[in-house]
Amino acid sequence: MAPHLELEEELVSVFRSVLRTAGFVGGPMVEEFEREFAQFCEAEYCVGVGNGTDALRFALIAAGIQKGDTVVTVPNTFIATTEAISQTGGRPDFVDVEERTYNMDAWKLHEYFETQCCLDRGTGKLLNRKTGSRVAGIVPVHLYGQMADMDPILELAERYKLLVIEDACQAHGASYFSRRENRWKKAGSMGVAAAFSFYPGKNLGACGEAGAVTTNDPMLARKVRMLRDHGQLQKYRHEIEGYNGRLDAIQAGILQAKLKCLPRWNQKRRTNARRYGELFRSQAGRIILPFESHRTKSVYHLYVIRVKNRDYLQAHLAQANITTQVHYPTPLHLQKAYATLGYKEGDFPVTEKAAEEILSLPMYPQLEHCQQKRIVQEVISSLAAETVGTRNRNLIPATASEGRAD
Ligand SMILES: Cc1ncc(COP(=O)(O)O)c(C=O)c1O
Repeated sequence: MAPHLELEEELVSVFRSVLRTAGFVGGPMVEEFEREFAQFCEAEYCVGVGNGTDALRFALIAAGIQKGDTVVTVPNTFIATTEAISQTGGRPDFVDVEERTYNMDAWKLHEYFETQCCLDRGTGKLLNRKTGSRVAGIVPVHLYGQMADMDPILELAERYKLLVIEDACQAHGASYFSRRENRWKKAGSMGVAAAFSFYPGKNLGACGEAGAVTTNDPMLARKVRMLRDHGQLQKYRHEIEGYNGRLDAIQAGILQAKLKCLPRWNQKRRTNARRYGELFRSQAGRIILPFESHRTKSVYHLYVIRVKNRDYLQAHLAQANITTQVHYPTPLHLQKAYATLGYKEGDFPVTEKAAEEILSLPMYPQLEHCQQKRIVQEVISSLAAETVGTRNRNLIPATASEGRAD
């Protein structure tokens, strides 16, 4: 049963109670949810906003990213990450991801600063050598539910005086063992601010659009509150120009109800991931399974495997009525939208290779053992059919037609 249906009665009663008070935007439900989500993330403040893209954009602006600033992120993410940077007036720049986690490679980030940037002696600011623009921030994306390696990223940020804004849109409840602090830290508690999306398919999903910014900085939280509401904290007193990016009460009430289930749902996702691992054990070497570092606890927003002939497997699974997706088929640096940034194929080889081979298998808390067994059987039979097809193809005389049924 889908998470929304599991709580149908409770969610409908949220709608009824908001209908009766007619307090559709803001109000006590939004404030209560903000308190509870801040607590869940082990952050001081949470500000509810319209969606995850708003959350990123407001967090970047409130943290101090300015027009012309370069903000470094990864090419293997949803375009909202870079849209938010551009819409803040910044310029997105990329570093490649780690081979095993698909998250920002801290070593490559280090290399980027060393080889592509220089310090302005006068101002002490870090500049991108090619564009001359100030490098002002880093947006690590906690992709697929697993946190990026935050310790070295934060160390680099401190060294170069950069802002770190976490894109935690896929990582509600994920955690990371910080060697610097010698304790587990939650997604949303490590950067100057973090952005969450509550798009319906997320681990914590609304019944519509919603998002939130978390932070430990009271001034940053204050600024995000203004930004989401036309620059005002008091009606018609506009301290700055802002946006219409508020969280509505119905979504807040729904999120509040679902937040209570989130630890259990995340645990179920982890159990499902472990089960996939066991079911795929015989396929070691043919399928690369998700890698969870001992320093992270992933909440498996997605379960992403990697195979050589991904498109063949995806088509096979579709025929068996198993829906899969690719997150993401075209890396951002190769998207038409970013042609002006001047990147080319080969610039981020780890991301580019992964984009050809990754496949997100069904993953949600209510996924049952028998469903997983069937999915795994279909994956295995697809790989076997492909191997037989390849073998047969090798036996076919050169005159035989291409594209046999394999
Ligand atoms: C990594 C990442 N960043 C940002 C977003 C944007 O969130 P929203 O769709 O709520 O605007 C998403 C949503 O899919 C995401 O996955």
